[in-house]
Amino acid sequence: MQTVNSIKELRAIIHAQRLAGKRIGFVPTMGNLHEGHITLVREGQKHADFMVSSVFVNPTQFVAGEDFDKYPRTLKEDQEKLAAVGCNLLFAPPVDEMYPGDQASWASVHVTKITERHCGAARPGHFDGVATVVTKLFNIVKPDVALFGKKDFQQLAVIRRMSTALCFGIDIIGIDTVREANGLAMSSRNGYLTADEKNRGAEMYRSLCAARDAIKGGNTNFAQLSSEANDKLEAAGFIPEYFSVCRADTLEPAQPGDRNLVILAAARMGKARLIDNIDFTL
Ligand code: PAJ
Repeated sequence: MQTVNSIKELRAIIHAQRLAGKRIGFVPTMGNLHEGHITLVREGQKHADFMVSSVFVNPTQFVAGEDFDKYPRTLKEDQEKLAAVGCNLLFAPPVDEMYPGDQASWASVHVTKITERHCGAARPGHFDGVATVVTKLFNIVKPDVALFGKKDFQQLAVIRRMSTALCFGIDIIGIDTVREANGLAMSSRNGYLTADEKNRGAEMYRSLCAARDAIKGGNTNFAQLSSEANDKLEAAGFIPEYFSVCRADTLEPAQPGDRNLVILAAARMGKARLIDNIDFTL
């Protein structure tokens, strides 16, 4: 698998593949790859002939005081994992290739409404950074199909909305969350956790499953279910941020009678901020 760092070189390679009639698939990442990321590439191979992945720790989606400097950078291991799964091309640009010159010459993409709650409220500006870098990556790679994890459910919803609203013409495919044996959603940020915190971290998925089962059993007191879940998370050593029963399409608070639901959760454990969710239909 070839790795390229420049936009120009990447475009030339992909252009040749497209001329050869290949369908291009794309999996953008921030690296420190785990089985969740690799599953996206594997799924992509079912929908495309030539798979491109990117590793770029995008500075504009980190809010002041977050872990941009500490974010794990493991390019060599990432290259090996992508090569092993049969990814065809890796784009790993330096920051000034993606954001040249000074900020006054940049442009930003803002997706309205669906970015306001949940992680958008907790991390102001985060989704502008995500939407902007994904737009740039899409314009560089020009994929036919791009794959994103449901692990970041709001991010997937933002990218779907952006692609539809701005007529990108790219198929966006969402992939189920890959989990550790104890249910903890795989995440590059799990590396910030001790073994004990990883064990206790499994409570987040247990709480999501318990709330889903209660709702499937007919409970419509969403506020009470959220408060009970936050109590359980606190007892496991989390500092809860949100635990919200939402409509899966808009991510607005669910009302009794809504049938397509997602429960979104975020909480801090030790040095990590963990997010997870569960979507289901009544
Ligand atoms: P990153 O956190 O590296 O994730 C890259 C992709 O992998 C995202 O689509 C994410 O949802 C997916 N992913 C992460 N953990 C997963 C898991 N356990 N199961 C399934 N999929 C999982 O998300 C980003 O990077 C960035 O915001 C990015 C989209 C690359 C823009 O910078």
